[in-house]
Amino acid sequence: MISCILKTKSKIFFAFLLALVVSFGAFAQEQASDQAEVATKGVEPGATQGATTDATPAGDPAVIDAGEALFKNNCVVCHSAGTDVIVGPGLQGITQKRNEGWLIKWIKNSQALIAAGDKDAVAIYNEFNKQAMPSFAFSDDEVKSILAYIKSGKGVVSAPVAGPEGVTPGENVGTEAIGAVGNYLDIVLVVLIVVLIVLVVTLLLITSLLKNYLNKNRKLDEYDNEVVNQRFDFSKIYKSKAVRTLVVLIFVVVLLDLTIDKVMGIGIQQGYAPKQPIAFSHKLHAGEHQINCNYCHTTVYESKSASIPSANICMNCHSQIKTESPEIQKIYKAIERNRPIEWVRIHNLPDLAYFNHSQHTQVGGVECQTCHGPIEEMDVVYQYSPLTMGWCIDCHRETPLNTEGNEYYDKLVELHESSSKGAFTVSSNGGTECSKCHY
Ligand code: HEC
Ligand code: HEC
Ligand code: HEC
Ligand code: HEC
Ligand code: HEC
Ligand code: HEC
Repeated sequence: MISCILKTKSKIFFAFLLALVVSFGAFAQEQASDQAEVATKGVEPGATQGATTDATPAGDPAVIDAGEALFKNNCVVCHSAGTDVIVGPGLQGITQKRNEGWLIKWIKNSQALIAAGDKDAVAIYNEFNKQAMPSFAFSDDEVKSILAYIKSGKGVVSAPVAGPEGVTPGENVGTEAIGAVGNYLDIVLVVLIVVLIVLVVTLLLITSLLKNYLNKNRKLDEYDNEVVNQRFDFSKIYKSKAVRTLVVLIFVVVLLDLTIDKVMGIGIQQGYAPKQPIAFSHKLHAGEHQINCNYCHTTVYESKSASIPSANICMNCHSQIKTESPEIQKIYKAIERNRPIEWVRIHNLPDLAYFNHSQHTQVGGVECQTCHGPIEEMDVVYQYSPLTMGWCIDCHRETPLNTEGNEYYDKLVELHESSSKGAFTVSSNGGTECSKCHY
């Protein structure tokens, strides 16, 4: 029966409906990607730090940056640049508390200073239960740059800054974006049903009005009387073509809604945030303690893969920090058993696609956050981007290549500018050729 009806009028309806649903889907997707774009822009690194940097007294930014790098690679393990005590004291205001000569001596070799009986050195050593701070083979200038960094206040973590576009930490941007498609379809459905109900009610009202009017004011012959005053016949409704078509239409919309949701989800894991074996938090490590991404993801600037840190990297710090915590004990157990920690992989391209981190981070200068979102605000990492082919290609079409000071590109750029107007993008350089991404 359904097939019979489908063959006739409803074919047109079906086509119309399909167009409607598809266009709504596309609309929703565009919205979703717009949202994602806004969010990406919102987390441009440095944006959150801007406020603190601007407010600090002038110092040579190059020196401060050098100091920041040294501090992050050598000191954050035990010190914050603010007032928090980690293993050693927070170092905010240290340049006022101690003179520079003393600090240089202490940082290069605190044990020597203590052994020499320096009063301040012995006092702070005792205050921190005689924990030895390691010695550092820095030049005086290097130590001075660290002190300039501490003095700049740049490393002082202020209260967590809410994302500029309202991206709060841990908020699952990804799933919301996908969910948006489903939401629009749901809205279409509800609207359709409401319209239907209103139609039926008005039709019923009109017929009963007409019936009353005809009975009162007109003399009806026998046949008309029969038609007008007939009993309400459900089987007629059931047999009516219009009603059947409507029922089929509703059925089709529901079916389409379900399948589109499923199809959109295949292979796309946006928003995926599995539970990890240890409650490791990027918000704590990369956010609050500002540990550089490549302290743990050691190969992200040099090779294809970013790499996940081994337990030994955790031990650089956790041999001393939070040793009693049950979560940290799990690291010790993994090392005892000589087994790697079994982190659940989140991002995973199919084997047919080639993606290289160093090409994007080192050569292309793309920030981690552009692809991975506000990782430094995530307690649990989730997949921020769709990682689809369209996503890769969109960016390659839009992103200008950094060709400055690279002779290799000079001729190519010249050629490009003579033949077209747009910027010299990744795709101008062949970044959308199939073979670049497919083996
Ligand atoms: C393994 C942990 C550890 C590391 C790494 C470390 N420190 Fe320390 N630091 C300490 C401890 C603990 C103290 C407290 C004194 C003590 O017990 O020796 C301290 C004290 C200090 C003090 C003296 C604070 C005061 O109030 O007088 C300064 C300055 C200092 N550290 C600077 C640094 C700098 C700069 C770096 C990086 C180049 C660094 N520390 C790396 C553990 C560390
Ligand atoms: C202290 C070490 C450490 C630092 C610093 C760190 N990460 Fe991680 N990262 C990890 C560990 C451990 C995992 C695996 C567990 C997890 O997913 O939370 C991980 C997972 C990830 C993943 C998901 C990998 C997957 O399975 O697909 C991404 C993306 C990531 N980190 C990006 C970053 C970025 C960007 C930064 C800097 C803002 C950063 N990480 C800083 C330790 C670190
Ligand atoms: C550069 C130093 C550093 C490294 C490397 C590091 N951590 Fe941490 N970790 C910290 C600091 C600092 C804290 C905060 C301690 C506190 O809250 O007092 C912390 C806290 C934690 C906590 C929370 C503990 C609790 O019970 O509150 C966990 C879990 C943790 N780290 C896991 C890891 C894992 C897993 C790795 C290796 C992938 C790792 N950390 C690497 C410095 C580090
Ligand atoms: C141009 C987009 C892009 C940028 C920029 C980017 N990543 Fe990735 N990242 C990816 C993709 C795509 C994957 C999945 C790779 C795969 O499955 O082969 C991934 C995977 C990862 C993983 C999982 C382990 C791995 O190597 O597959 C980690 C960790 C990671 N990225 C960290 C980082 C860090 C840290 C940065 C910044 C220094 C960064 N990423 C910059 C796109 C990017
Ligand atoms: C946020 C923007 C962005 C995204 C997303 C992105 N890329 Fe790229 N990609 C770049 C830039 C910029 C370069 C140019 C790097 C350079 O300067 O050579 C590049 C270069 C490449 C190249 C080298 C092209 C050439 O001409 O040699 C490959 C291959 C590549 N990307 C693959 C991928 C794949 C696969 C994905 C998706 C999983 C992806 N990219 C996602 C920005 C992006
Ligand atoms: C910038 C990188 C990039 C370029 C250029 C590119 N692809 Fe892809 N392609 C990908 C990625 C990443 C995937 C995996 C995406 C996914 O699983 O959703 C993919 C998936 C595919 C798939 C499998 C689709 C599926 O659903 O499994 C085919 C087929 C494909 N690409 C063909 C091509 C052809 C043909 C070209 C050239 C016209 C091309 N690709 C150019 C990155 C690229």
